[in-house]
Amino acid sequence: EQIEKNGYDHFMLKEIHEQPEVIKDTFRGRLLADQGLIRMAGIEDNIDKFLNAKRIIIAACGTSWHAALVAEYIIEEFARIPVEVEYASEFRYRNPIIDSTDVIIAISQSGETADTLAAIKLAKSKGAFVFGVCNVVGSSISRETHAGAYTHAGPEIGVASTKAFTTQITVLTLLALRLAKAKGTLANSEYLKYLHELELIPERVEEALTQNESILEISKIYKDATNCLYLGRGYNYPVALEGALKLKEISYIHAEGYPAAEMKHGPIALIDEHMPVIVVAPEQEHYDKVVSNIQEIKARNGKIIAIVTKGDRQVRELADHVIEVPGISEALTPIVTTIPLQLLSYHIAVLRECNVDQPRNLAKSVTVE
Ligand code: G6P
Repeated sequence: EQIEKNGYDHFMLKEIHEQPEVIKDTFRGRLLADQGLIRMAGIEDNIDKFLNAKRIIIAACGTSWHAALVAEYIIEEFARIPVEVEYASEFRYRNPIIDSTDVIIAISQSGETADTLAAIKLAKSKGAFVFGVCNVVGSSISRETHAGAYTHAGPEIGVASTKAFTTQITVLTLLALRLAKAKGTLANSEYLKYLHELELIPERVEEALTQNESILEISKIYKDATNCLYLGRGYNYPVALEGALKLKEISYIHAEGYPAAEMKHGPIALIDEHMPVIVVAPEQEHYDKVVSNIQEIKARNGKIIAIVTKGDRQVRELADHVIEVPGISEALTPIVTTIPLQLLSYHIAVLRECNVDQPRNLAKSVTVE
């Protein structure tokens, strides 16, 4: 086992650090930025299904459901196809309205999640085309779907998903851009800009990982917290949800993720000097609005840990701690802003002497209801 951990104390930490490499694996043969091309066999062979789709429904569970939410924003923005995101467990039991004009995307690291598998079978029985995004090659979901794309993250051992999440988003971003190209919904210059930026993502993730030591120091301050709030807007709202889930899963600290603007409709009542609030606030379209949320937290003495773009000044003045990530177009930020949140939950869990790789009551693959 020590050999498999490759010198890291835990599989989770190893898997966090593998992300630059596995994202490159996810791109391999698919992202041909210099030629202005994205090539994925599962999409090429079925491009008409996607282009004729009235809407796309994405079904998933857990962390994969968070990747689905990111995909909703990206696919709607780039390819202008309506997207709905569903918890597979709800979708399968509520007699959803689906027909042959729907495309279902099922996202699953393991490819074995019972609820996701059942959602796929239901959608197929109603005539929909089902596309899988799985990590495990040859898994039940990869066999049950009509077509798909593997994430190529390699085996993920830590129960808390890390590299599977970022590679899921990577695959779904490629899909969105491929569809945008086919539909002409994105100016060619924009499309090419994104392709070149994507190529740089592994480096950006590598750079985000260099914040490890300062994240450890922040973790020491907050390791005894009993509650944490995670906030983000737009593309970074799902990142906030995923950050909160990671902390809950492995450190057993209660954490909630919220869209930043929803704070005033409830969570703000909880904010006092004992409430750490992690705000995902990279440079983005509604940056000013996030800044005013941060001011509201500060006015109530909440402790602010902010994920910001390198060189940020406004949030730095307000926050108790900032963690910098390199700048990148807003639609691509989730892959990068997620990294510090993974490290934060990892270090807090280790400091609390929790079993990071095998948290209590959780399973890596949930093959029963
Ligand atoms: C379990 C795992 C999570 C995972 C979820 C969905 O709860 O502990 O890490 O996100 O199942 O799993 P899947 O394999 O379908 O992505």
